[in-house]
Amino acid sequence: TFVVTDNCILCKYTDCVEVCPVDCFYEGPNFLVINPDECIDCALCEPECPANAIFSEDEVPAGQEEFIKINEELANEWANITEKKDALPDHEKWDGVAGKIQYLER
Ligand code: SF4
Ligand code: F3S
Repeated sequence: TFVVTDNCILCKYTDCVEVCPVDCFYEGPNFLVINPDECIDCALCEPECPANAIFSEDEVPAGQEEFIKINEELANEWANITEKKDALPDHEKWDGVAGKIQYLER
C-alpha cells in the first residue's frame, strides 16, 4: 500500500485524489489518508503530490513509520474524497516544516 505522511498535514493539496483509479483517499480537517485495504499499489499518486508526502509502505522515511497505522485507522473514520479542492490557506508556509503530526486534527 501507499501511505500519506507528515508533510501533507496543514498543506492538503489534494492533487493525489484525482489520479487514484480506486478512489481510496479519505479526508480529515488538515490531512488525507489512503485506505490500505483498497489501495492497489499503482503508484500513480506518489509523483502527483507537490509536498512529496506519499510513499510506498516500504519506503516511508525513518521516523514516520507511525503514519502506516494512522492511515489505516483514519481511513475507517473519515469521508472519501475524489475531487481536487483548494489547498489549505497556509500551505506555502507549512510545506516542508518537520514534525507536523503534532497539529494533526482527527
Ligand atoms: Fe490510489 Fe494508486 Fe495511490 Fe494506491 S498507489 S492510493 S491505488 S493512486
Ligand atoms: Fe496531501 Fe499531497 Fe495529497 S499534500 S492531499 S498527499 S497531494
